[in-house]
Amino acid sequence: MSGNMVRPDWDLDVLWRPLTQHASQQRPLVIVSGKGVRVVDSAGREYIDAMAGIWCVNVGYGEERIVRAAAEQMLRLPYTPLTRPSPPALRLAERLVGLLPAGLRHVQFLNSGSEAVEDALRVARQAQRQRHPRENRSKVIARYRGYHGWTLGALGATGQVGRKERVEPLLPGYVHISPPDTFRLFAGLSPSEATDRLLAELEQTIEFEGPSTIAAMIGEPIIGGGGVIVPPDDYWPRVRQLCDRYDILLIFDEVITGFGRTGTWFGGQNWGVTPDIMTMAKGLSSGYMPLAAMAASDAVFDAFKGQPADGVEYAQISTFGGHPVACAAGLENLRLLAELNLVDNAAQMGALFGAGLRALRDKFPLIGDVRGKGLMWGVELVLPGGLEPLPAAKVNQVLAELQKRGVLAGKNSSTVPRLENVLTFAPPLIVKSEEIDQIVGTLGEAVQAVQGQR
Ligand SMILES: Cc1ncc(COP(=O)(O)O)c(C=O)c1O
Repeated sequence: MSGNMVRPDWDLDVLWRPLTQHASQQRPLVIVSGKGVRVVDSAGREYIDAMAGIWCVNVGYGEERIVRAAAEQMLRLPYTPLTRPSPPALRLAERLVGLLPAGLRHVQFLNSGSEAVEDALRVARQAQRQRHPRENRSKVIARYRGYHGWTLGALGATGQVGRKERVEPLLPGYVHISPPDTFRLFAGLSPSEATDRLLAELEQTIEFEGPSTIAAMIGEPIIGGGGVIVPPDDYWPRVRQLCDRYDILLIFDEVITGFGRTGTWFGGQNWGVTPDIMTMAKGLSSGYMPLAAMAASDAVFDAFKGQPADGVEYAQISTFGGHPVACAAGLENLRLLAELNLVDNAAQMGALFGAGLRALRDKFPLIGDVRGKGLMWGVELVLPGGLEPLPAAKVNQVLAELQKRGVLAGKNSSTVPRLENVLTFAPPLIVKSEEIDQIVGTLGEAVQAVQGQR
């Protein structure tokens, strides 16, 4: 494809791009090809994609095996609904259940992370209504700064004013609590003291709302787009216990953290915690096709069993959910993740990445905090010596300096206005140590360039 995709006379307003202020008439970076961890723009410039698209191209670009599996399936049978499932959908469900933490044994397929969250929320509400017919367990507890998607149900669970305020009111029944942000909210406390405070808030919220009104609590094992917020080690085990005590279903939104991203197959495994319901997308197909999933425990699944006249079955369908071509691509993607040992590679490269980023934090006063697991990292930029966030213009400059030097990174944009100061990194899981060094080295140069301007 040639560079003439972005001709000078191209009308920049025809393709209405997300998260973009069109009045600025800023020309987009047009990406035309990719191989491994690298992508190429329409002018022929190459970049390390240190965000794997949007945290999703886990196996990297240009994996012909996935392409062939998808093409063969499209020739054989391009479409059948999940009510008459295709072999790839059946096999993928079986494969997933083999990978998921024990206890999650029932899978539905959807097309995007947001849909998986919608599904999880409606499954939780219907399951709770059918398990507790005399109660009204419909509310959902979520965390500020968390992200769960752009559809209205998932957006309700999202705790980011920047994504919500201009389209509110959303659905009623969401209650938000503090995120496990030990850097900003609990400076000076030990991790377990921070957990004590967070658990006290959660329990108080449950009591004040009324346990019999709450269906579920939803959370990302590590908050991703909200600024890579890693909880203290005892946080999720204690949340799990509390949810069990009140019979509140725990939903893990593993849309980012699934499929090796954090150095384990699923993020919750870092703390040995299994949810009742899990959502997945992104790394499930490494972005080669739109594909998402919701998995549920026996207890949740069994709440939908009954006689036909009871009307307790799952009464929804997504036309494209479990699309045969997407499932064929997903299946081959999971084979590659396993054969190439990419979960282990994420853990090993993640250790290097974390060490490199911490060394930068010790060197540059603009870096206030570095946090992450596996190949999911956040670098929080501050004014030197405190918690005051680096102003957005400077944060954007660091990103621009990175891009100028051939590294595409992200940041937590349109989340909580003053707190959009976290750079995000999530390279494909095939990344090698030389490429980690290149990303870290380039970040050092980019921060230096911006720090030097003060
Ligand atoms: C944790 C989480 N949940 C849900 C979503 C929504 O996924 P999608 O953009 O595929 O709808 C995202 C997207 O980034 C996410 O990070």
